[in-house]
Amino acid sequence: MSFNHFEYKGTRFSVDVQSEESLSYAENEFEVFDDDIYNVTYPKSGTNWMIQILTLIQNKGDPVKSNMLPIYLKAPWYETKYAQEEIQKMESPRLLSSHLPHHIFAKSFFKSKAKIIYTVRNPKDIIVSLYHFTKILKIFQPTDDFQNFLDDFSQGNALYGSWFDHVKGWMQMKDDSRFFFITYEELLQDIRGSVVRICKFLGQELDDAQIDLVVEHSAFKSMKENVMTNWTQMPSDVMNQENGSFLRKGISGDWKNHFTVAQSEYFDKIYQEKMKDINMNFSWEESS
Ligand code: A3P
Repeated sequence: MSFNHFEYKGTRFSVDVQSEESLSYAENEFEVFDDDIYNVTYPKSGTNWMIQILTLIQNKGDPVKSNMLPIYLKAPWYETKYAQEEIQKMESPRLLSSHLPHHIFAKSFFKSKAKIIYTVRNPKDIIVSLYHFTKILKIFQPTDDFQNFLDDFSQGNALYGSWFDHVKGWMQMKDDSRFFFITYEELLQDIRGSVVRICKFLGQELDDAQIDLVVEHSAFKSMKENVMTNWTQMPSDVMNQENGSFLRKGISGDWKNHFTVAQSEYFDKIYQEKMKDINMNFSWEESS
């Protein structure tokens, strides 16, 4: 996976999106408010889907109020070079996104009452999603060498570092009452039940009709057709959308169309080795 990168505390970042200063600020100086909500993911785990769900919940399902801004401005990634100006303009309660690993996350969070929603996805589907994404997001030098891409991902040579370290780091918080953990696959299997659980975690009381609206306007088809959620407003010097769509397939198990049997076995072996020290089964493991 090629992109112009630098390392900060052992994790790989893009010179185009982050800087030493933006990361140091995010880690050491950024002020977390008690009513902040953080949408945290490893890239391609369903970050934007969760932004849409959360903004709809905040607006009691109202699609007009929820779609006033393009999705990438609704919950800025607070560690990036460009986010601070947008964040200064935000009203509380703020909804912010982050792909940061646990060990670099804002120190002030750990002394606050703010909440984190962490979405995890089958890493094989993340690899496929990211592989296609590198063909549209211009910070990446795209490749057709899937094996090489898989090797880079498996070794943690990826934007925001190793998926394994990311998940293991954040899972240290799994019993913390400020931390809510869900999988992309759970969202796919039972979106209504997931929305109800998220509302409960956030202390948001929505009636049945409002929950129906959240489900309707966060559906893949709805987000793909909506210019405020499908990223088509991103300038062409940032994204080349002739090579694909941000909202690509929105399914689980697409890895089966990309991995050979040998590649799947190779990745499973690495997965078992790297994840053996956390005693957790994820929802995709039964079906994959
Ligand atoms: P695919 O490339 O597999 O289709 P992120 O927002 O973290 O970058 O994740 C992007 C992935 O989430 C893409 O996966 C995208 O299609 C999927 N996605 C976005 N919105 C979705 C939705 N409403 N339902 C299901 N998947 C969605």
